[in-house]
Amino acid sequence: MFCNKDTLFIQNLISLYPQNLKTMSTAASDDNRKVTTHRLMEMKQRGEKISMLTAYDYSMAKIIDQAGMDVILVGDSASNVMAGNVTTLPITLDQMIYHGKSVMKAVKRALVVVDLPFGTYQGNSKEALASAVRVMKETHADCIKIEGGAEIKESIQRILCAGIPIMGHLGLTPQSINKFGTYAVRAREDEEAHKLIEDAHLLEEWGCFAVVLEKIPAKLAARVASELKIPVIGIGAGGGVDGQVLVMHDMLGINQEFSPRFLRRYADLYDIISNAVQSYIEDVKSNDFPNEKEQY
Ligand code: KIV
Repeated sequence: MFCNKDTLFIQNLISLYPQNLKTMSTAASDDNRKVTTHRLMEMKQRGEKISMLTAYDYSMAKIIDQAGMDVILVGDSASNVMAGNVTTLPITLDQMIYHGKSVMKAVKRALVVVDLPFGTYQGNSKEALASAVRVMKETHADCIKIEGGAEIKESIQRILCAGIPIMGHLGLTPQSINKFGTYAVRAREDEEAHKLIEDAHLLEEWGCFAVVLEKIPAKLAARVASELKIPVIGIGAGGGVDGQVLVMHDMLGINQEFSPRFLRRYADLYDIISNAVQSYIEDVKSNDFPNEKEQY
């Protein structure tokens, strides 16, 4: 099964934007138009880097969207950072839909991508389509993300044929952690690197609008980004790709237990929140809170 209209769609987009647009650049913050899959392609063509961050709830999604983020990922990393699971495997489709709905209520500008969770798309392409349709109908998100390449060809093609845009995800795919056995850098060896390059080309050929590359050598990621016309977003994949994604709890320093080399911490919210909470406890215990002005 192959839906030719998807390939045509991506090829038309590619031909619309010649290479010489690469020299142009605009500041993302000046542009309040809704980010679409088409606009991500334009950004790649003119060499404007794409910013992407995870969010799982209304309040944080609102801050992140209003700050000017291009793409918000309702990642299945919610399983770790929101639900406290050791891996992404336990999170369910219903739980992802709950997070997706909450985020969508807040977001006006960013493109919102929702992860299909483990077990909802790998085995059977009809189930994969049913999962993707539920996400789109119930959350109103813009598109979905799924992990894998050639091995999930039928699922990808069936979902694309239904008109649902897909962001691929290759390299360290956390839903396969039990197969990998470790969160170490992937595709260091030639065989795995070649498969990754092949898979990335297949995802583009089938009509995916972008690909995430997680924790692979920077040189390999840069090669994939230069060979593909669709945007390549990296996490632990170096600076030679078209954009970057991080998990919000990691970059804000809420989750202090996770410090891989690729992570840059932009805040230490763990300490800020902990100090604020301790001050509140002290004020309650000492009867300092509430004071005269804080009561009716
Ligand atoms: O679930 C997630 O947060 C992700 C990112 C790590 C890309 O897939």
